[in-house]
Amino acid sequence: MGLRINDTVPDFTAETDQGEIRFHEWIGDNWAILFSHPKDFTPVCTTEFGAVAQLADEWARRKTKVIGISVDGTEDHKRWKADIEAAAKTKAGFPIIADKGLAVSKAFDMLPAEAYLPENPTPNDSQTVRSVFIIGPDKKLKLSMTYPMNVGRNFAEVLRALDGLQTAGANGVAMPANWEVGQDVIVPLAVSDADAEKKYGKVNKVLPYLRYVKLPS
Ligand code: BEZ
Repeated sequence: MGLRINDTVPDFTAETDQGEIRFHEWIGDNWAILFSHPKDFTPVCTTEFGAVAQLADEWARRKTKVIGISVDGTEDHKRWKADIEAAAKTKAGFPIIADKGLAVSKAFDMLPAEAYLPENPTPNDSQTVRSVFIIGPDKKLKLSMTYPMNVGRNFAEVLRALDGLQTAGANGVAMPANWEVGQDVIVPLAVSDADAEKKYGKVNKVLPYLRYVKLPS
């Protein structure tokens, strides 16, 4: 059974290219994003790592630590990072977990279906899919998404979803489709019209169950 939203994510000790970490301790009281990659020195993964590196200031503004993982070792990770930094023209300051034994990949259910089937899995079977786990300071899973090996993730969407989670959590609201920071948000069904007015001010009632409010900027 994979991880479900609101599960406490597995804690683990692992080697990274920046030394050993204990995952929950490493998260501390921050938000965290764990993103998996099938393999070092591969083209799509290199663009994804570059995209994450280029967003360093954005993660920091959101008090969010990012960490990658792939099934190769720390020496490969260090050499690959030099390529990533050259291609993305920026520093990749976040750690990458070396998951050679697949312990973390299995704990987070990051492997493709085939990996669980053959008696003698090939290296191809043990390549992780492209998963993203957004984890709150309470160490609970807030969001996960999984892409196949042949489609790179959209990290602008990861950032948008992180904004949505943080804003929803802080204000007790929900986010409509394609929501971006600054746009109107949705009043949850459990809140009455009267309570919504009291809490958020003017309510734009499009349908009895679809009510928008503005948050203070
Ligand atoms: C990639 O482009 O990221 C990739 C290519 C082959 C295997 C795994 C990853």
